[in-house]
Amino acid sequence: MLQPPVPALPASVDFQGKTVLVTGGNSGLGRAACLHYLQHNVSTLIFTVRRASEGESIRAELLALPELRSETKILVYELNLSSHSSVIAFASKLRAEVEDLHIALLNAGIFHLDWEVSPHTGNEMTFQVNYLSNAMLALLLFPLLRATAERTNPPTPSYLSIVASQKYSESRFIKSPIPETTPIFKACNDKEEFQPWSLYADSKLLVRLFVKELAKHVDPSTVIVNCMCPGMVKTNLARDLSFPLRVLGRIVQALMARSPDVGSRVLINAAGFAGKESHGEMLVVYQILPMIAWAESKEGEQMQVKLWRETVAEVKKDAPGTLDAALLH
Ligand SMILES: NC(=O)c1ccc[n+]([C@@H]2O[C@H](COP(=O)([O-])OP(=O)(O)OC[C@H]3O[C@@H](n4cnc5c(N)ncnc54)[C@H](OP(=O)(O)O)[C@@H]3O)[C@@H](O)[C@H]2O)c1
Repeated sequence: MLQPPVPALPASVDFQGKTVLVTGGNSGLGRAACLHYLQHNVSTLIFTVRRASEGESIRAELLALPELRSETKILVYELNLSSHSSVIAFASKLRAEVEDLHIALLNAGIFHLDWEVSPHTGNEMTFQVNYLSNAMLALLLFPLLRATAERTNPPTPSYLSIVASQKYSESRFIKSPIPETTPIFKACNDKEEFQPWSLYADSKLLVRLFVKELAKHVDPSTVIVNCMCPGMVKTNLARDLSFPLRVLGRIVQALMARSPDVGSRVLINAAGFAGKESHGEMLVVYQILPMIAWAESKEGEQMQVKLWRETVAEVKKDAPGTLDAALLH
């Protein structure tokens, strides 16, 4: 099954004067997104890596691009999404060192089939990295994104965009919803109920519901909150799978997958030039993908509100005093 083509980025897309953050900028879609922002005149590109030495060598490569304008700034920060203290330290460093943030593209993520627990938080790793840390980061960066939009003349919304996946619709939590009395975080950390092939979809369902709920607390005239699915893209996302599964994945990718250059155009659309109609939505190939019916059902709505409460409580516990009052209305 072939994927539809992704049109080239419009020539009018121009990030001059903008400061853009891309998490997971060393590899795959994140790295390709960094190149697009640079090719479209971004003034300050900030990308994150897990290893400082790798970040510096990538920064040097980017600075050597022939098309780079001499005034372009490229900054690299360390961020490890398996640790709340790393997320909190990164967000406060960014807020202290960067005056403006027009676009936050939260891209970093993993695809695991094995049960693994973060040694830092005790949470299951895919839930921790793909959902909880990204949600925390979104909440911690929101004040800077909003303040930047309010300072911009003429008024222009900032973007808070999270890389999601259409696979969210395959989550086990849709087929067998988490009981009302069970916390979502507890369900995600229940090794007895763990289903390897649902792990990734579960984490992306949480991302999808979080974006839908966050959008309700945010005025899209200041910050557009959205997510996107780049389709199947040839990257190293499946690097932790067994050898036979990786070989199979490579064959499927060779037949069907987009290149990171093409797939990342979907990221740039969401986190760069999509309109206010994308607020709370998921974008695929420059279009909004309608929410699955379950998410609009009573069960879906309940899970969304419960997820929001648990996430906000986690941020209040681990990073007290950092949440923007506007988010809590
Ligand atoms: N490829 C696809 O077909 C596809 C489809 C739909 C959605 N996505 C989503 O696209 C995003 C990017 O994935 P990709 O396909 O480009 O894969 P990738 O090449 O493996 O990139 C993943 C990025 O996330 C970073 N990362 C992983 N664990 C991290 C952690 N604990 N802390 C901080 N950074 C971490 C990686 O850094 P290291 O190099 O240090 O591990 C890397 O930069 C993910 O959110 C993924 O779910 C991908």
